[in-house]
Amino acid sequence: MTEPYGSELTARFGFAVDLGGEVPDDPRLKAMLLRRTHRRYSDRPVPDALVKLLLAAAFSASSKSDFQQASAIWLKDRARRDRLAALFPDMPWIGTAPVFLVLLGDARRLERLGELRGRRQSNGSLEGFFNATVDAALALQTCILAAETLGLGCCPISVLRNRIAEVAEILGLPDQVFPVAGLCLGHPAQPGFVSMRLPPEATVHIDRYDDSGLAAAVDGYDRRRDARHSIADRQRETDRFGTASFYGWSEDKARQAMTPEGVGFAAWLKAHGFTPDDAG
Ligand SMILES: Cc1cc2nc3c(=O)[nH]c(=O)nc-3n(C[C@H](O)[C@H](O)[C@H](O)COP(=O)(O)O)c2cc1C
Repeated sequence: MTEPYGSELTARFGFAVDLGGEVPDDPRLKAMLLRRTHRRYSDRPVPDALVKLLLAAAFSASSKSDFQQASAIWLKDRARRDRLAALFPDMPWIGTAPVFLVLLGDARRLERLGELRGRRQSNGSLEGFFNATVDAALALQTCILAAETLGLGCCPISVLRNRIAEVAEILGLPDQVFPVAGLCLGHPAQPGFVSMRLPPEATVHIDRYDDSGLAAAVDGYDRRRDARHSIADRQRETDRFGTASFYGWSEDKARQAMTPEGVGFAAWLKAHGFTPDDAG
């Protein structure tokens, strides 16, 4: 019997994943296994009706307690978009993508519901922040999968949080509303490539957490990734970290993580209606 997802699983993980049994053959699932981020787009416009459909799909995502704490901004005004894009010159796709959305965690709306119903409560605890973040992240990924199903390409943009005060001003964000990520959308200008993922033995635990095999799993992953697409000539910050004889994904990510991101986001959240505490 041939495994229906053989080539897709190999593309995703770099080896033939043994599912150990028969599974239904579904083209949508194949497309999902082959999904990829796109940062370059053709000039072909994306009609407003399509964006509305994708937003409808986004807001069909699951929502914690049905609280519905995701919101989105569709950034249509060119001048406002240019102001935003100018903050991130290293990522020109923020300005060039045919469509730019921002998926927001919206802890404000639940407080407003309380006011409307005469039941004031605070939703600025860690629980409120976390639930709103998860809702927005689910809406983001649902939007991405819907767009990719229709042949569009996407790129989420979390770098917005690195300039949170300016971004919040441009987007007119009130307290307790924050960007989880922007989302570039358009027709891909090139096919792109599937980014290999860590093997299931590194990410899926059976019955209890056990990462004792991590070093071996990461080593194998680094080698498979390097064999497909070497990044040896793109070593980060060699002045600071030196030049590695073997430069794989784990070395690249370990170096990347040495430079903190989102600096100022925690202070901004505290100044805009959130506390890092339990609800009380
Ligand atoms: C929450 C989130 C934020 C991201 N932020 C950015 C970003 O600011 N800029 C960017 O170019 N890509 C961004 N990406 C895209 C990732 O770099 C990309 O998903 C990752 O390299 C894996 O590639 P793949 O999506 O093709 O599998 C983001 C992805 C996610 C999920």
